Amino acid sequence: MRTIDDLDVAGRRVLVRADLNVPLQDGTITDDGRIRASLPTIEALRSRGAKVIVCAHLGRPKGEVKPEFSLAPVAGRLGELLGADVAFQPLDVVGDSARAAVDGLADGGVALLENLRFEPGETSKDDADRGAFADRLAVLAEIYVGDGFGAVHRKHASVYDVPERLPHAAGGLIAAEVEVLKRLTEDVERPYAVALGGSKVSDKLGVIDNLLGKADRILIGGGMVFTFLKAQGHEVGESLLEEDQLDTVREYLRRAEETGVEFVLPVDIVAATAFAADADHGVVAADAIPSDRLGLDIGPESGKLFAARLADARTVFWNGPMGVFEMEPYSHGTRAVAQGLIDSGAFTVVGGGDSAAAVRRLGFDEAAFSHISTGGGASLEYLEGRTLPGLQALED
Ligand code: 3PG
Repeated sequence: MRTIDDLDVAGRRVLVRADLNVPLQDGTITDDGRIRASLPTIEALRSRGAKVIVCAHLGRPKGEVKPEFSLAPVAGRLGELLGADVAFQPLDVVGDSARAAVDGLADGGVALLENLRFEPGETSKDDADRGAFADRLAVLAEIYVGDGFGAVHRKHASVYDVPERLPHAAGGLIAAEVEVLKRLTEDVERPYAVALGGSKVSDKLGVIDNLLGKADRILIGGGMVFTFLKAQGHEVGESLLEEDQLDTVREYLRRAEETGVEFVLPVDIVAATAFAADADHGVVAADAIPSDRLGLDIGPESGKLFAARLADARTVFWNGPMGVFEMEPYSHGTRAVAQGLIDSGAFTVVGGGDSAAAVRRLGFDEAAFSHISTGGGASLEYLEGRTLPGLQALED
């Protein structure tokens, strides 16, 4: 994979596909981690005299111009962090005003295009539609740099089709992410423990399947744990449950026993009367969740158990919060696992938007982890062993 060091960019227009898909609340960015992670590549290109055209998506506006999905707040924050003007044309992705803004860039200047997903061609499954939009993006620039690691698992125009049309290279973020993920797939230092959380088992099936042949221990928390507890024959009350995944989960538990992979499930649960921070809640045994309660976090004994199963690991990958960490009463399991990663002294990788946001929101020092990935789905799909379109396009 070529990197930006292999490119001559001085005075040239460089289109950088970044992942700036940050969480917003009432138009305010609540976690700017992805913007900050994109800075080194943008700064390197600027300092070498490139005219930098950044493009990215925000949310899923499904091919329609929806002002609430505008990248305007991101343009503002990007400008602040760069300490430079960022040209931005609200609600216009590749139209006349956007093209004029790009044409007006001086060497070292930066423009941000409006949310790519306002254009239906960006996410189209039809190669010709995607290609037509890729053509309109490609004419804006002379060189393409892929640096949106969080989106490399998407076969989208800006990720997959534009690099086919322009000389291309990987940015520093993608290069760094891939190097780390390789350490989780080739010559892993053992014991290798994986902590998985988040709400849906169905999102994690591929990775669990693959890890059953690779990890030594798999710790399960988050909303998906209730499908595991149910598969073991326990009642889970009103907790999140994916009935249609029960057979698959039973099969995983069977295969784990056969292959000697240890599944670590919580022994206690914080169960509440409603999905609310002020709902009546308490700790119950994992096999005795009352029928009128729903589990919203792993309990304190489980936190200790998980930390103990991480303590002697040499490599740890963690994806997905252990509970509803945004609400204080249900944040302790996620906190315990984050601390467990830090205390292990292992090579620790935090994968994904939610877990990365949790780490920052709960006040942990990012530097205490070996790597915090910017890609949730992307890092999971990489670990599943799948071909990621955005990486494939940069290889060619
Ligand atoms: C993410 O948030 O994981 C990436 O930005 C990809 O977003 P998407 O799941 O909407 O494609």
